[in-house]
Amino acid sequence: MAKMWAGRNEGITDKLADDFNSSISFDCKMYKQDIEGSIAHAMMLGLKGIISKADSEVIIDGLSQILTDLENGSLKIDYNAEDIHMFVEQVLTERIGEVGKKLHTARSRNDQVALDLRMYLKEQLTCIKSLLRELVKAIVNKAEQYKLSVMPGYTHLQRAQPISFGHQLLAYASMFMRDIERVNDCYKRTNVSPIGSCALAGTTYETDREFEAKKLGFASVCINSIDGVSDRDFCVEFLSVASTIMMHLSRFSEELILWSSWEFKFITLADEYTTGSSIMPQKKNSDMAELCRGKTGRVYGDLISILTVLKGLPLAYNKDMQEDKESVFDGAETVIKCLEIFAKMIETLTAHPENMKKAASEGFINATDLADYLVKKGMAFRSAYKIAGSIVKKCIAENKTLETLTIDEYKEFDASFEEDIYNAIDLNTCVEKRSSQGGTSFSSVEKQISIIRELLKND
Ligand code: ARG
Repeated sequence: MAKMWAGRNEGITDKLADDFNSSISFDCKMYKQDIEGSIAHAMMLGLKGIISKADSEVIIDGLSQILTDLENGSLKIDYNAEDIHMFVEQVLTERIGEVGKKLHTARSRNDQVALDLRMYLKEQLTCIKSLLRELVKAIVNKAEQYKLSVMPGYTHLQRAQPISFGHQLLAYASMFMRDIERVNDCYKRTNVSPIGSCALAGTTYETDREFEAKKLGFASVCINSIDGVSDRDFCVEFLSVASTIMMHLSRFSEELILWSSWEFKFITLADEYTTGSSIMPQKKNSDMAELCRGKTGRVYGDLISILTVLKGLPLAYNKDMQEDKESVFDGAETVIKCLEIFAKMIETLTAHPENMKKAASEGFINATDLADYLVKKGMAFRSAYKIAGSIVKKCIAENKTLETLTIDEYKEFDASFEEDIYNAIDLNTCVEKRSSQGGTSFSSVEKQISIIRELLKND
């Protein structure tokens, strides 16, 4: 069958070319946005007298019926169509006749597809934002539950200083709070309407772009029609935000996987979010966390793919841009699935404070506090650091800990050591004393919890 765009071109393409050109297998996802966009367009055409009011109403009714029928399954997508835009217009014309052919006045598929994709992405961004909020809430609740649990904090994956488990969890809450800001920011630039840009140059008809934008819930209209049809920055930004979220989830996953290993035993993930092995009966694998870590690679791929598609494109629309959608869809769906499962995984995990405490008691993670003790007695930090280092060295050689050294042994290193050294290096003291802003002390952690809860109330 000849194409709707048969003109100069006969509109008869080779079957292979048809399949190659077609995007309906994936852009059918945007049927709702496409129809809603067309309804707003038909309204505007009627309002401005570009088509008659009566025609506008017939078109709007026809489009509404198509939406209903697609939603209730009585109308099926025809995968032989070129794309979702052509499909909807074709069904409309089949159903309402010649009037249907008026819908595409003062419009092009170039502004239509840019509009649909922005509308789709706005919905996804809203969903991602609410999932991020749920995840932050779950993290904050866990942090509250375990704010008094002392664990080793790591640098270079070596035991560094004792911290509250709540403090560690809240670091992730801060990352996801920034992601919420990034989503808000991306939303702002996605929320600009390209419709009315037409093919690239605007139109000779007296359209009302503001009306269409408002009707569809956009905050504003793009300034330049050439940019309106060429701009895919919002896709790049979205996939960059999505990549950052995935990177955060992946780092968190890595820790959850480590912490639930036999070597750490800091946490147990709920059975509902782990799997067994088909051969090793003792296994409990952190598959959900591993998958979130693994899927991060896909989303990075989506970002690189859109950046590469766009890099050499002259203005304005080029068919290369049809390649934007699969990346955006995949990125959005992946992030949404990962966020959903992650919040549940956090909500249901159990920590083992006794194992964390035990790990924190080994590895001299209170050595900084030993040095600080001498500093408080009047010594310069560098000298205190050196003495503390020698004490640790002695303990390692003699298989002792800082807690089991006698006061006489301490005094051999420096005369200012007194009985209060044992309290100064007690793990709880080490944590409690780090009460600087944002620090690990129990009261600082409580403060961080209330700051984040307060921020969540705002938006
Ligand atoms: N399916 C196309 C896309 O996704 C729609 C726009 C087609 N425009 C055109 N001038 N051929 O980009």
